[in-house]
Amino acid sequence: MASKRKIIIDTDPGQDDAVAILLALASPEIEVLGITAVAGNVPLSLTAKNARIICEVAGKADTRVFAGCDQPMRRNLVTAEHVHGRTGLDGPDLWEPTMPIQDQHAVDFIIETLRSEPTGTVTLATLGPLTNVATAFDRAPDIVPRVAEIVSMGGAYFEVGNITPAAEFNIYVDPEAADIVFKSGTPLTLMPLDVTHKALVTKPRNDAFRSLGNRTGVFTAEMTEFFERFDKEKYGSAGAPLHDPTVIAYLINPDLFSGRHINVEVETTSDLTLGMTVADWWRVTNRPANATFMGDLDADGFFTLLTERLARLP
Ligand code: BDR
Ligand code: CA
Repeated sequence: MASKRKIIIDTDPGQDDAVAILLALASPEIEVLGITAVAGNVPLSLTAKNARIICEVAGKADTRVFAGCDQPMRRNLVTAEHVHGRTGLDGPDLWEPTMPIQDQHAVDFIIETLRSEPTGTVTLATLGPLTNVATAFDRAPDIVPRVAEIVSMGGAYFEVGNITPAAEFNIYVDPEAADIVFKSGTPLTLMPLDVTHKALVTKPRNDAFRSLGNRTGVFTAEMTEFFERFDKEKYGSAGAPLHDPTVIAYLINPDLFSGRHINVEVETTSDLTLGMTVADWWRVTNRPANATFMGDLDADGFFTLLTERLARLP
């Protein structure tokens, strides 16, 4: 097999973040250098705890987990307990993780890793607000050209918004951070709601998780069963959208996705449309392309990959 792809997962777990972490930890193509927690779906103390619970579910308690920024760069934190529950990971029975949190701050870990690994070998897989990554870029601009690629769940164009009529949650929570990352010049691939709302855990897909015969399968089914109630009620959809696992699936098999290399910019000033990702899908401006903005996925292929990988865990 070709050499493993080295990634840092920046995340705010979140049931869908949790499934993304499980997918990464189960996949031999990927080496997780560290998991950096950020405030988002729930406050930082919970996202840092949830990330460790997930590593323990996967039997990978030696994974390094770092706590990062507890507030967006310039705004008050907005959370999403209405979607994810009080813990951020409601559904299965949870426990106090026994694996340690690392002493180093997540931003320092990101900076140090990008400086110490060869240029162009570390990919940032971001599943939450972009506060940690943008803070690292701000503090250490020398690391920006060293990043291989950023693959990020965030934004929306045709689906517009989920936290406001105009904005997707991850971008809305820290639009200034997203703006820094989008303008950084780093190769950027975005998984917007346009894609993730097609990655639905229908009943047969959830049954497939549950009947894997391992602890991970049951844990995943219990998370997605809780998580789906919100979207079923709001959109009338067939199940929970697995937003964040699309990022990891892309790293394993990019052919599952299709999109366009276009200009995407973030609204940072308007109260009405704060955090909107203005995607020039139809190429009606001359603004330079800065992101591959995904538009579609092979949902059956995605769930086949995910289910097969979850089966490899305890
Ligand atoms: C994104 O927001 C969070 O609620 C999910 O974990 C996902 O990263 C979807 O808008
Ligand atoms: Ca997330």
